[in-house]
Amino acid sequence: MRLKFLPSFVKRRGRITKRQEKGLKLLNKYSISSVNDIKNESMKFKQCCLEIGFGNAEHLIYQATENYETLFIGSEVYMSGIGSLLSYLDENSISNVRVFPDDIRMLLDQDIIEIFDSIKILCPDPWPKDKHHKRRLINVGFLQMLNDFLKSNGSLYISTDWENYAESIKDTISRSEYFVSSNESYMNEKQLTKFEKRGIDQGRKIFEFNLKKKI
Ligand SMILES: C[S@@+](CC[C@H](N)C(=O)[O-])C[C@H]1O[C@@H](n2cnc3c(N)ncnc32)[C@H](O)[C@@H]1O
Repeated sequence: MRLKFLPSFVKRRGRITKRQEKGLKLLNKYSISSVNDIKNESMKFKQCCLEIGFGNAEHLIYQATENYETLFIGSEVYMSGIGSLLSYLDENSISNVRVFPDDIRMLLDQDIIEIFDSIKILCPDPWPKDKHHKRRLINVGFLQMLNDFLKSNGSLYISTDWENYAESIKDTISRSEYFVSSNESYMNEKQLTKFEKRGIDQGRKIFEFNLKKKI
């Protein structure tokens, strides 16, 4: 069978801990499966933000606990990360997070609704080998999808610790013509994610793209 999208991730197996397993049992309670689900849920909140590839969910949890009036949608395919997040939400009675447990492009391939105030992608898989560059998530088609689902004046934040990916993202943004640079910065040194920390520990710099949807 031909896949509609080239996989942008490696499905990490990893051991699922008891806590993660417990969290995964709550998937029905916290998951959304369509843009219409998000539309319905978001009516109870002032804003709606999307984080794509939340990994271990450090940033998503931090944002959700700091902003109770915002609905956060997290997308991830890594089951251990989803399980940990769901356990945390349940243990701490956090009610402003929903999860799309699949390739985000399956969600954004539906009928377009300008629904997100902001979208964040922290350290997308870098696919450093030349022959794998085609698997990188950030390409012109994907930026068009993000643009379609962002509200007017919505913001897009992307970070990467790979210089070569940063160059490619910069080039993709300028070719796409959907976004302009913004002065806002979302980077919070105290709340680095696992992959941001790893990049810095291995001597790499974090490249950031703070963008606004073109009006
Ligand atoms: C390099 S990790 C970064 C995780 C986290 N953002 C961090 O900074 O620690 C990239 C994550 O994006 C997820 N991912 C990749 N492609 C995705 C897609 N199309 N939809 C949803 N998640 C995706 C992967 O499963 C992986 O957990």
